[in-house]
Amino acid sequence: MKKIALLGAGFIASVHMEAWKNIEGAKVVAFFEVNNVKASEFQKKYSLPHYNSLSQLFSEQEVDAVDICLPTFLHREYTEMAALEKKHVFCEKPIALSLEDAFAMQKVCEDNGVFLMIGHVLRFWGEYVKARELVASGAIGQPILINAFRLSVTPVWSVNSWILKSHLSGGASLDLHIHDLDFVNWLAGNPQEVFARGLFREDSLDHVVTTVKYGNGVVASIEGGWMMQGDFPFTCGFRILGSEGVLEWTFRAGVNIEERAQSSPLFLYRRGEQRKLVEVAAEDPYREELAYFLKCIEKDTPPGLGTPEQAIEALRLALAAKSSVIEGERVLLEEL
Ligand SMILES: NC(=O)c1ccc[n+]([C@@H]2O[C@H](COP(=O)([O-])OP(=O)(O)OC[C@H]3O[C@@H](n4cnc5c(N)ncnc54)[C@H](O)[C@@H]3O)[C@@H](O)[C@H]2O)c1
Repeated sequence: MKKIALLGAGFIASVHMEAWKNIEGAKVVAFFEVNNVKASEFQKKYSLPHYNSLSQLFSEQEVDAVDICLPTFLHREYTEMAALEKKHVFCEKPIALSLEDAFAMQKVCEDNGVFLMIGHVLRFWGEYVKARELVASGAIGQPILINAFRLSVTPVWSVNSWILKSHLSGGASLDLHIHDLDFVNWLAGNPQEVFARGLFREDSLDHVVTTVKYGNGVVASIEGGWMMQGDFPFTCGFRILGSEGVLEWTFRAGVNIEERAQSSPLFLYRRGEQRKLVEVAAEDPYREELAYFLKCIEKDTPPGLGTPEQAIEALRLALAAKSSVIEGERVLLEEL
């Protein structure tokens, strides 16, 4: 049985906690949280030992791995603390706010012989996984053009509104848009050129349309933002055009990802054929990614999904998009 310490007791920590409950071979043994209100709510619900000091948690609890569900600006600090204690690290996306922090996280985990996996959950999300499998199997021929999008209302739940402060969260471009940047990288390989336009609120890039040219000639248009109004439902999806066909999926939920019921199906369109409905098993992608992380620890094999390299590539693209919006110019990724 692997013992997990959960860091944070906010929105995504609860999603992870529910997922860990359904994973055999792992147990959350304690949680770390500095906010007393959040801590007591979480403790009431899950009856777990609570710590407001991570070093105290480590000195009193035997732990194999940490699951970092803290605000992004804290990812490096807590990854370093855990790695120095020889704990494997699962950390929510985005890996960090800067490439410097991300490389430091990668290095400290390597130097201490522990795994670092980043929660790029689309790599475990049924429709995204299935689309990638279909593309790899040649179902749409050569992919040519990829469109991916993710739209929501402004998130209001975060403690002290950290998510709305660009220097703490990176704005929607790093927090939300990065999911799709990672997905398109996963499909198309090495991004080469970026041109983006977007909307700032104060210094937070909160809606962005990023066009990317990949080394293999694939072109992508990726849109993400949290400036939707009223009860506009959380919406995401993709359309992948290939030389022989198209894959399309759109998902509309409640105002946030917690209501994941109402999804519209994945369709495969091929030249000369009737469209096909593609069946996708409705697994919890958060459970899938954490179960995968656990398997990697059990087998002592480094994760191949949500690797620091993949997370750094997605961050590099998000930062390139932001600088393209600011400069109004195309950014070549080699230049960063
Ligand atoms: N993969 C996904 O789908 C997904 C979804 C939401 C959030 N996230 C990521 O998860 C992370 C957390 O986001 P959230 O929405 O759960 O935020 P949140 O505000 O709901 O929770 C963050 C928790 O960290 C604690 N915290 C705040 N400041 C702290 C500090 N200075 N020191 C220690 N702890 C502190 C808060 O008290 C809170 O309990 C972010 O990196 C975010 O990008 C990922």
